[in-house]
Amino acid sequence: ARNLLRQYSTAPPYPGPAFAFDIDGVLLRGRSVIPAAHHALNSLYDQSNERWRAPITFITNGGGTTEAARAQKLTDMLNVPVHEQQIVLSHTPMKTLIDAYKHRAILTVGNPHCASVARSYGFQHVIDTETLAHIHTHSAPFAKVDHVQPSPGDYLVAKMPVAVVFVMTDSRDWGRDIQLLLDVLRSDGHPKRAHSDKQTVDLYFSNPDILFPNEYHMPRLAGGSFAVALRAVYRHVTGTDLQYVQFGKPHAPNYQLAESVLRNQLMYMGYCPESMPAIYAIGDNPPSDVRGANARGDPWRSVLVRTGNFQGQNDETDTAHVVFDNVAHAVQHALEQHD
Ligand code: G3P
Ligand code: MG
Repeated sequence: ARNLLRQYSTAPPYPGPAFAFDIDGVLLRGRSVIPAAHHALNSLYDQSNERWRAPITFITNGGGTTEAARAQKLTDMLNVPVHEQQIVLSHTPMKTLIDAYKHRAILTVGNPHCASVARSYGFQHVIDTETLAHIHTHSAPFAKVDHVQPSPGDYLVAKMPVAVVFVMTDSRDWGRDIQLLLDVLRSDGHPKRAHSDKQTVDLYFSNPDILFPNEYHMPRLAGGSFAVALRAVYRHVTGTDLQYVQFGKPHAPNYQLAESVLRNQLMYMGYCPESMPAIYAIGDNPPSDVRGANARGDPWRSVLVRTGNFQGQNDETDTAHVVFDNVAHAVQHALEQHD
């Protein structure tokens, strides 16, 4: 890879803009496509040569799916080919933890796909909270876990001490998950054992968004709200603060991955990967999309659109470089800046 980089470092710099599209509230709203998204992406995709005209990444605080499945869903909905390597999900940085936890037990929180997503990253011993609640009968008294059918492998993982908790997407049962995490995070990894004074199990959150827009007329609670609730209960019960690492926009690891996606595309297009063009981060959520791009600084440019969370002129706290009604106008603006 280093040789390849050296070979391309003499290539010309890419003259146009690069794009980092937020998904929910910019391209999609729940299960519907925002009409301007078709226009925006069609203007960036060269149908006759079957390739993108610009380096593009999709950076979302969504998750609970593999990058490949998310890419396929976008391809189907938007009618342009999206590759799994263009996708940065909220939990994609968890891949980078492989050396620390590959052979240790991991507890996932989220939807029923999360355990297999973690396995797809290479982690060997993964169990989710729903399965753990079923195995430890009565541990989550109000949860419906009768339908769960643990595999023989699940029973083996359940005997190992949990080394780390990955909160990968919105909890499907806050009561069950807060109860189980409270047990696990106060133990030596065996939730049925006596509580220890010190937190020895690691915790990683993804999506820190408090709200997200769907088809409902008001934004709904998102992954960050679950984290607020868990931290509050933990603090109340233990008198100490929960220790954790946060991934997801606006945090740097997701932007670093987006930059490496764009660098790979620059190389593939025959341009110098070390000379990064202006990256237009088009989002609808000021505390995630704008704050993240602004914190990264040059060559990132924050662009707000009014098709999701944000409505108004500009945000006072997380102020975008520019604001447009929709993603089609935002893309047109970016292209005009680099004619
Ligand atoms: O907060 C949940 C998620 O839907 C946000 O996704 O694409 O707007 O970052 P996105
Ligand atoms: Mg969004």
